[in-house]
Amino acid sequence: MKINTAEFVISNSDVSKCPKEPLPEYAFIGRSNVGKSSLINMLTGRNSLAKTSGRPGKTQLINHFKINDNWFLVDLPGYGYARVSKSTKQTFQSFITEYFEKREQLVCAFVLVDVRHEAQKIDIEFINYLGTIEVPFCIIFTKADKISRGKIDQHVAAYRKALLANNWEEMPQYFVTSSSEGTGRDTVLNYIEEVNQG
Ligand code: GTP
Ligand code: MG
Repeated sequence: MKINTAEFVISNSDVSKCPKEPLPEYAFIGRSNVGKSSLINMLTGRNSLAKTSGRPGKTQLINHFKINDNWFLVDLPGYGYARVSKSTKQTFQSFITEYFEKREQLVCAFVLVDVRHEAQKIDIEFINYLGTIEVPFCIIFTKADKISRGKIDQHVAAYRKALLANNWEEMPQYFVTSSSEGTGRDTVLNYIEEVNQG
């Protein structure tokens, strides 16, 4: 899919204030620093559309980006960042769970995990939560430039095992990406295009 336009629309922590248009949207979620915002920039080919940082906790709100005037990419805050203040230190912030539970336009969540790490408890918990609320999701293994192709295959296989051990029947649709090298751009965009076309 060709990206003709990509524009920032609105940031907020209130799901009822998200754009009202009935356009399909795809949300990026995962641990802080996993590369959600970087992947949005890589996919859209706009280097500073979403704000990124080497320090975890950069994205704090629900950010809507309108693509080609007919669908949305949604950048979300990360979870699992330990250095947040006590009052906000819930496992998953309530406006994030509210987003996943209430947002009717959401057609697919992309759960990002760092390809270098073995399955993390918090990610499995979040994936299980998506299962409970019946939100369709894919897994994106990020930062593929950091390890060899052979290691990537090993880590994906181990992830599949971890999901099966958590009562998932099969590995969901998954992608391997590198935002610094552009890896996975076409496959992710083509997948979105297919889903958009129903
Ligand atoms: P929060 O908004 O804090 O939840 O983080 P995030 O998931 O949006 O991560 P972000 O995109 O801000 O990236 C975090 C750090 O990882 C930055 O230093 C990025 O440059 C780096 N990064 C992201 N994707 C990649 C990648 O594919 N390869 C490499 N090598 N670094 C990456
Ligand atoms: Mg971010």
